[in-house]
Amino acid sequence: MPATRAEDYFEFLAKLGLTKHYGSLDATLELAEMTRIKPGQLVLDLGCGVGATAIYLAKESGFEIIGADLVESMLYRANERAAEQQVLDKTAFLAADARVIPFPDDCFDVVLLESVNVFFDNKLAAFTEYRRVIKPGGFIGITEMTWLKEPKEAFVDLFKNTAFATALQADGWKALLTEAGFTNVRGNGYPIDPIRESKGRFERYGRGFVLKIIGRMVKLILTDKDSRSFFQDGTSGLSKDIIQYVGYGVFTAEKS
Ligand SMILES: C[S@@+](CC[C@H](N)C(=O)[O-])C[C@H]1O[C@@H](n2cnc3c(N)ncnc32)[C@H](O)[C@@H]1O
Repeated sequence: MPATRAEDYFEFLAKLGLTKHYGSLDATLELAEMTRIKPGQLVLDLGCGVGATAIYLAKESGFEIIGADLVESMLYRANERAAEQQVLDKTAFLAADARVIPFPDDCFDVVLLESVNVFFDNKLAAFTEYRRVIKPGGFIGITEMTWLKEPKEAFVDLFKNTAFATALQADGWKALLTEAGFTNVRGNGYPIDPIRESKGRFERYGRGFVLKIIGRMVKLILTDKDSRSFFQDGTSGLSKDIIQYVGYGVFTAEKS
């Protein structure tokens, strides 16, 4: 990825030690069910951030998961958290670009991506690369920001300029999966429920951890000018109007 503000944004999230996706834990659990993950399977979580999903699924369901992220400081946080949660034996985190996966063809049962594809310009090339590493009969599962109806141009620009993200409508995400060669493409877009979002974040990270994040947040606001600008960007502009348009989608498909 070229040096852009998106990279600075990811560095900021790593400093905070918190990454997220719309739909929170509900989306993750639906993905795990729809991709039929079973203990003993080889699962790859691309763009794993601080490893919350891999660690949650390892701890709660006993799955073994490899997380990969482009940003080294995310992996530091992921390993730190995996050690705290005592799942180092079930998780492994490595530096990799999701668009050029350093694994041979046909090796994973399931590939997951949560809020990663919105950052890619050439989404089809990325989806084709995911398909390459999935075993025949294996699944892809993605959860991504999803427009619930045709967005106003101003909303598209807002997300592009503040979160570096370009979302699609549900049909758009599904069409990409089909175009990349996947079959049995399924999934839907859902509205965001702010209460479920916060609850899911507590459940995904744990109450004590969320308090730790709040402490880091206050410190970053007080001491780090760049981080302060991300807090301001993140909280501005989300009018009541836009909430009717922004949702999340959970989609899965099979490599036949
Ligand atoms: C919004 S965060 C979501 C993280 C995580 N999936 C979650 O749900 O908490 C997006 C993540 O994608 C990672 N990322 C962005 N571009 C990437 C790429 N080309 N390859 C791998 N990871 C990437 C970022 O570093 C960041 O950790």
